[in-house]
Amino acid sequence: PYTGSGVQASAIAIDKVFTKRIWETHKLPTPRYRLIESAERAHLNEVADDLRLPLIVKPPHEGSTIGITRVLGYSGMAEAFELARKYDDAVLAEEFIEGRELTCAILGEGKQAAALPLVEIRAPGANYDYHNKYFGNETKYVCPAPIEDALGETIQQLSLRAYNALGARGWGRIDVMLSKQEEPYLLELNTSPGMTGHSLVPIAARAVGISYEDLVLRTLALATLDQKAP
Ligand SMILES: Nc1ncnc2c1ncn2[C@@H]1O[C@H](COP(=O)(O)OP(=O)(O)O)[C@@H](O)[C@H]1O
Ligand SMILES: [Mg+2]
Repeated sequence: PYTGSGVQASAIAIDKVFTKRIWETHKLPTPRYRLIESAERAHLNEVADDLRLPLIVKPPHEGSTIGITRVLGYSGMAEAFELARKYDDAVLAEEFIEGRELTCAILGEGKQAAALPLVEIRAPGANYDYHNKYFGNETKYVCPAPIEDALGETIQQLSLRAYNALGARGWGRIDVMLSKQEEPYLLELNTSPGMTGHSLVPIAARAVGISYEDLVLRTLALATLDQKAP
């Protein structure tokens, strides 16, 4: 047995394009996207026109904000594509969602899965990059996120549906952008989120009185086998 999601959910979640396709079939909100097929100028411009600038370019199989660019103008498209290509064969372009950044930790499986309080991530200059994730101490994490109860519950429900749509279990964390119009957009599911003392899932657990030790024990208790022994 092992903790967290099985092979299938983990493999889907590590691919942001597959994740989005599944969420779309479940009518779950995720930023509009296109795959960038080549560095040809006409193609890059067409993608930029379709998604509108600014937009986000990212390698779909990476994490830790590696290889991600916020593209402000047409001239930035080629460089962003080349950077993402260093990490991945495929390159994902996404509509840029300007607004607040939230994350929703989830414990459990299926109907028993439960969302922890939302965490708001406030990075300097709204730039939650590799440095700000792991090294800077200017990023602030606010839990529970100060948003209206009804909106918070809606985001937790969407996150639970998104988690179950991918068949995740044990524990996980959904990254969410909340637009200026207060519309939530799901970015990704992390099936093996950070688990240091100051990581996001432990922060969310602490807000409902679950200590780091309890969180580890709960996660361990949920460890399961994919196949029952004969
Ligand atoms: N479509 C988007 N609109 C606005 N910001 C985004 C978008 N996609 C990613 N970001 C920003 O980049 C960060 C990393 O993106 P994410 O998709 O979560 O990839 P990962 O965490 O695996 O690197 C997010 O936390 C957010 O700050
Ligand atoms: Mg993320």
